Amino acid sequence: MYNQNPTLEGINKTIDESKQGEVFFQEKEAGATDGKRFYIESYGCQMNFSDSEIVASILGEAGFAPTRNMEESDLILINTCSIREKAEETVRKRLRVFDKVKGNRPGTLVGVLGCMAERLKEKFLDEEKLVDMVIGPDAYRDLPGLVAGAEEGEKGVNVFLSREETYADISPLRLDSNGVSAFISIMRGCDNMCSFCVVPFTRGRERSRDCFSVVAEATDLYNKGYREVTLLGQNVDSYKWENPETGNKVNFANLLEMVAQVHPDLRVRFSTSHPKDITDEVLHTMAKYENICNYIHLPVQSGNSRVLDLMNRTYTREWYMERVEAIYRIIPDCAISSDIIAGFCTETEEEHQDTLSIIEFSNYSMSYMFFYSERPGTLAARKLEDDVPQEVKKRRLQEIIRLQNQVSFKHNQKDIGKTFKVLIEGDSKRSDQDFKGRNSQNKMIVFPKKEGLKPGDYTMVKVLDATSATLKGEIV
Ligand code: SAH
Ligand code: SF4
Ligand code: F3S
Repeated sequence: MYNQNPTLEGINKTIDESKQGEVFFQEKEAGATDGKRFYIESYGCQMNFSDSEIVASILGEAGFAPTRNMEESDLILINTCSIREKAEETVRKRLRVFDKVKGNRPGTLVGVLGCMAERLKEKFLDEEKLVDMVIGPDAYRDLPGLVAGAEEGEKGVNVFLSREETYADISPLRLDSNGVSAFISIMRGCDNMCSFCVVPFTRGRERSRDCFSVVAEATDLYNKGYREVTLLGQNVDSYKWENPETGNKVNFANLLEMVAQVHPDLRVRFSTSHPKDITDEVLHTMAKYENICNYIHLPVQSGNSRVLDLMNRTYTREWYMERVEAIYRIIPDCAISSDIIAGFCTETEEEHQDTLSIIEFSNYSMSYMFFYSERPGTLAARKLEDDVPQEVKKRRLQEIIRLQNQVSFKHNQKDIGKTFKVLIEGDSKRSDQDFKGRNSQNKMIVFPKKEGLKPGDYTMVKVLDATSATLKGEIV
């Protein structure tokens, strides 16, 4: 679910690098406030960023307004990630910083949210003295109660994992948004048991949200001027919802179609697709609607069948290749990206070569690449030995990164001379004379501004130049 920024140059960087730790803020303050302010930082996947918007909405109802400045906040929240050891280290470092703020401003409360809260539970309170509250991903409705308790000096923990909670009725407070693109969570949890992965333990069982609440949220966003929604889930292809009144069943292809019909000018993206579950029905639905973007994040993890089996991914190299072929057959100009893990338990050099070759075969536009990091409690931690030496993991990762860089560069070079419909997101990072926006394939294109155009508008851009990360062009 990580489609923002490739971590091409990084070793073991956390996902969605450009946004890690981003502070949420909204220009117009939310709701009534009795003067209390909260500050929130988010780490990890898009789901966590989306959850922070739910948290902000719940706190807004409870009278808290968001602030960008932690020095003036009454409540500091950190929405955490446990996916790799590095992600948890980052959180602990931030807690040291909050400690200082708390020293200068006694009474400031610190709450840990998200996956690391769920993993460590009350242990967090013992390990980190400054933490006042520990709240797991399914317990955010309890936040105002826990804050009230903490104000009375009572440390609180709620890490209850639910089988039903989808926060369907909560309208997320769109924080630090560009006003053009927004996330919509369509499901929570994960029922797969990939042996390396901590998510099933931190997020609980998979559950899908009522399709009508998803369509209502997309419609509301469109009416507010948004032009792109990304439907989020750990495994969107296993979305399923049954109407309790009619017994009608809705699968992911059906939901995608319902959202695509909200308005032809509302772009629809989704993440993450699981190779074992992505169906031709989904691909045909994508091909049928111009506003469903031609981009699929299809994490392979490894290109070798024996390793995939150890990872418990439940597909083989051949199965994955067939799905890639189906994508390019049904949606010829689709871009595919991936997540790749280097140096999983017992991986040999030959098996590593299979990962390299599948990058070329799949012709990924980009990938998020990591070396394996053992996570306590996972199947791999319990059953397999983390026996690939660190230097070997790092070297293999470097080889993967180097190859992906070349493949991305070629992929982008092939776009030179082509003209794409681009949704303008805002000013480019480098210059306020340029706009940035994405094409359907999720590639960022930078181009000189033109009078009369603004973020949220579509424009046709011809690509003139390309690096491995961005395209440059001009409006035609
Ligand atoms: N639901 C998504 C992935 C969620 S986690 C999916 O099934 O594809 C995001 C990515 O982090 C994974 O795709 C994987 O590449 C990486 N990851 C997960 N656990 C990891 C671990 N223990 N060590 C290294 N990378 C890991
Ligand atoms: Fe983790 Fe696998 Fe679930 Fe993805 S599908 S969240 S990798 S267990
Ligand atoms: Fe996401 Fe990290 Fe949790 S990747 S689901 S925030 S462990």
